[in-house]
Amino acid sequence: MLKANHVSKSYFQTCHSLKQSKKEHLVLNDVSMEVKEGEFVAVLGRSGSGKTTLLNVLSGLDMAEGEVFLDGEDIFKMKEEKRTMLRRKKIGFIFQSYELLPVLSVMDNIRLPQLKKDMDYVMELLSVLGLKGFETYYPDQLSGGQQQRAAIARALINRPSILLADEPTGNLDSKTERIVIELLKDLVRKYNTSILFVTHNESLVKDVDRVIRLEDGEIVYG
Ligand SMILES: Nc1ncnc2c1ncn2[C@@H]1O[C@H](COP(=O)(O)OP(=O)(O)OP(=O)(O)O)[C@@H](O)[C@H]1O
Ligand SMILES: [Mg+2]
Repeated sequence: MLKANHVSKSYFQTCHSLKQSKKEHLVLNDVSMEVKEGEFVAVLGRSGSGKTTLLNVLSGLDMAEGEVFLDGEDIFKMKEEKRTMLRRKKIGFIFQSYELLPVLSVMDNIRLPQLKKDMDYVMELLSVLGLKGFETYYPDQLSGGQQQRAAIARALINRPSILLADEPTGNLDSKTERIVIELLKDLVRKYNTSILFVTHNESLVKDVDRVIRLEDGEIVYG
């Protein structure tokens, strides 16, 4: 379903000690991995290990060396517009800092990326995620957990085949964190969505299908 073959990504920084020269910073180093249909996979790694970069590359938001296959198609080889459309259709993205639009209500945030109008499904998502009654609220009127759940609803709006979740519980207390993880697991079963879930918190990956450990941009386990 989602597969990375020998993916490497570097950033170049101007090096002041060596005038004019650029220093290479290898952020992803020959990463190969796979998420199968319906699988709940966790990527565990310390701050700066390359987790967000990996998700950005896997979703085609960012380019890299190597290959990334989404349902058998190499996303780096296709035109930008096709990549964008494929991402909207097949990938749900939960950002590290939610990224809800402050000027839109919960309802409008959730429906913003929707490709095909389906009000029944919108209502179902609101209900499943415990957001009924909050449709007209703006993000700054919600708690962190509610914002998180709105971001999850938005990520699910096009019934994606895979959900990429970047530290989705990073700003929550440990109890709410647990609730959100359990919710994500239920969603995998209910909608048969795969999840690639990124975290630095070891205690959250106890009962996922598979754990991939990232250290300095390299997979050292999984
Ligand atoms: N646009 C960029 N330009 C240069 N370097 C970058 C850029 N984005 C990320 N990096 C570098 O890549 C490395 C990995 O960053 P990344 O955001 O992927 O880490 P992370 O594992 O998600 O960390 P965290 O847990 O803190 O979110 C860092 O050292 C960072 O400085
Ligand atoms: Mg990150």
